[in-house]
Amino acid sequence: MSTNLSQTVHFKVIEPTLFELSRPGRIGVDLPACDVPEQDHSELLPGVALRGEVPLPELSEPEVVRHFTHISSLNYNVDKGFYPLGSCTMKYNPKINDQAVSMPGFARIHPYQPEETAQGALEVLFAMQENLAAILGMDAVSLHPAAGAHGELLGLMLIRAYHEHRGQGHRKSILVPSAAHGTNPASAARCGYKTVSIDTDERGLVDMPHLKHLLAQHEGDIAGMMLTNPNTLGLFERDILEICEWVHAAGGLMYCDGANMNALVGTARPGDMGFDVMHVNLHKTFSVPHGGGGPGSGPVGVKAILEPFLPVPQAYRRDDGTFGLDYDRPLSIGKIATFHGAFLAIVRAYTYIRHYGREHMHEISENAVLNANYIRVQLGKTFPVAYDQLCMHECVFTLKDLKKHGVKALDVAKRIIDYGYHPPTMYFPLLVPECLMIEPTETESIETIDAFITAMQQIAREAVENPQIIRDAPHTAPVRRLDEALAARNLDLSWSPLAQLAAAKMED
Ligand SMILES: Cc1ncc(COP(=O)(O)O)c(C=O)c1O
Repeated sequence: MSTNLSQTVHFKVIEPTLFELSRPGRIGVDLPACDVPEQDHSELLPGVALRGEVPLPELSEPEVVRHFTHISSLNYNVDKGFYPLGSCTMKYNPKINDQAVSMPGFARIHPYQPEETAQGALEVLFAMQENLAAILGMDAVSLHPAAGAHGELLGLMLIRAYHEHRGQGHRKSILVPSAAHGTNPASAARCGYKTVSIDTDERGLVDMPHLKHLLAQHEGDIAGMMLTNPNTLGLFERDILEICEWVHAAGGLMYCDGANMNALVGTARPGDMGFDVMHVNLHKTFSVPHGGGGPGSGPVGVKAILEPFLPVPQAYRRDDGTFGLDYDRPLSIGKIATFHGAFLAIVRAYTYIRHYGREHMHEISENAVLNANYIRVQLGKTFPVAYDQLCMHECVFTLKDLKKHGVKALDVAKRIIDYGYHPPTMYFPLLVPECLMIEPTETESIETIDAFITAMQQIAREAVENPQIIRDAPHTAPVRRLDEALAARNLDLSWSPLAQLAAAKMED
């Protein structure tokens, strides 16, 4: 990693599109001669569906390969370098997972295939339901949700179905801590619930007196509570047993936002803490790619009281050892996704789980927590830690002291790009001013982490000696700092070759 970027090189890269690289007559493929009779297209398609000339770019094969290889290398990704994006768990995606999903038995099957011809795939679905239930401490798992937020929605729909089934459908309040991820109150609202916000205390944890007060204030109306544990400050909610007891006594159910499961996997189980329902992100804790590399998957685990309401179908094993899909679930809330979820994401996560096995799974969370605490202690000498105590898999710093140099957390996040790293999460959780949230994950070496800390310390020195260099960053990225206000006002989300050609003609 480069560490001497105080002297900045200003450059701007404008990537030409394939249309701009196009030259008339250049060709990259030779199609074989047509061996079926030519037909009048209008017989096959109605006239309105037929296009005239489509202006496709004309290039040779090497030009196309170079173009795409080049632009793919401009994108930052976890195979390129350290990706300390807190709360997102951007962990390494083992290549053995790709090998597994490339197997024809997984890659080439169709969801409408007869069950007897897809026994291996059904066994993986069943085994994942069982494995995740064991890891989370739950009784049953649905693999259907396509993301964490989708899992939250399903979890709340299950809570709603449970209360309605018991004649308690009038319960309308969901407790959510002030530090929660924005998807929590959004999912509650989407499910028709009212969010009641719980304060965070000076420890960075649920404010217990405030929780007690809210439970009394909303007596008879509490449907449940959503809690991330460890919470979004990277801290373990030490009062979790008491919290669950109180909410249960008030007639509510406990939902665990399992986005931070990387801190617990193999070591502790939310089901044992008293949670009734939770989601876990396969695209975080279980090494499935996310961001541009999706699709994601956010399975939901439940205790037995919620199992009857799970979406259909559930994979199951018959007495004769074969596998099937169970649609015969009278209390099910129905379907929340097409078919059975993001199947290949499930295969990737299953490969990861089997790779570690029961004996070694705890090493994931142990190393993730060790790496985060190393960063907390080392970088804490430069930037104050928001709530300085033993953290779990991520740590949150406040950069408010840099304000006197005219430097914000956003500027530091942009400057770290010049040093070859993806920025950490910034301005989340909202209750920490000028915050950066750093999550190293378990696979980063001490050399990588030390180099990152050195770069951050260098930026802290720059803030004093040459703050402008930080305010203007990034200097070396293919795209410089964007004018976000302008982008929001002039949204331009689609690109069309015809519009581009028209614009080029106007310029001529
Ligand atoms: C704490 C927390 N909850 C929920 C989510 C939502 O997960 P997803 O992005 O898979 O919808 C995230 C995502 O970053 C998160 O960090």
